Amino acid sequence: MTDTPSLPLPLGFRDVDATAPEQCVRCLDCLHQLPAGRAYKARALAALQLVAGCTALDVACGLGDDVAQMVAAGARAVGADRSRTLLTAAEARHAASSATFHLADAKALPFASGSFDAVRIDRALQHIAQPELVVREMARVTRRGGVVLCAEPDWGTFLLGGPHSALGERIQHDWIRSFENPWIGRALPGLLSAAGVGELQREEVWLPTHGFAESDLLFDIEANARKLAGAFPEALDWLDHYRSGEAYAGVLMLISWGRKH
Ligand SMILES: C[S@@+](CC[C@H](N)C(=O)[O-])C[C@H]1O[C@@H](n2cnc3c(N)ncnc32)[C@H](O)[C@@H]1O
Repeated sequence: MTDTPSLPLPLGFRDVDATAPEQCVRCLDCLHQLPAGRAYKARALAALQLVAGCTALDVACGLGDDVAQMVAAGARAVGADRSRTLLTAAEARHAASSATFHLADAKALPFASGSFDAVRIDRALQHIAQPELVVREMARVTRRGGVVLCAEPDWGTFLLGGPHSALGERIQHDWIRSFENPWIGRALPGLLSAAGVGELQREEVWLPTHGFAESDLLFDIEANARKLAGAFPEALDWLDHYRSGEAYAGVLMLISWGRKH
């Protein structure tokens, strides 16, 4: 794995293999270890209503940890992702599980229509252009009455902690704007409904980070501040202040799900 560290993390997730796989792995692992990361993922897993022997798919599965959780819940679970690097890591990590992994684009899933009882996607629609095509594809591979679930942040809720300043605001703005779809969280019910998913339900879970290390791993704060430092040297002062103070950040995760008509 080789990294191109100057690239903003959200751009990296659009094409992990061509950009910064090691940084992406560190970010994914950090989130899976955070109590709040585990909490929202537990809510999403429960909403899938998996039963022993059911079939389940995680679209854009990354390192496959959620696929392994679905196996542990009794499902015959499959993960699909467009990153060969992440899938190789997923296969090694979950070799002892019955989870299987496929290299696939979320807009063209290599599965027959109606193959799965439950299909999910987690924090990937924020990175993919035309997310409506992904949600439609997720609904296609779900059987009638099966569950389709999306869990995404809405970056309109992003909190960058520390005292307010124009520079902090700029760092926050640049981070939000580095996403393909920063406002995806609020769009989820509409996307599901347009894809033929009804009986919609939703839940919101706050995803906070505490301390510089995890805030930076998840929200790429140092890179964003350093990028601005060319034009605004005081960005480095802001960074020092943030790092040595009570560094924290957070975003609201929106989980939206329903049943295919
Ligand atoms: C932020 S990660 C989330 C991974 C995983 N769902 C999780 O919760 O840990 C975003 C994932 O989307 C994948 N991805 C991005 N664009 C994709 C596409 N068009 N098709 C399939 N996967 C895609 C990336 O490779 C990456 O694994």
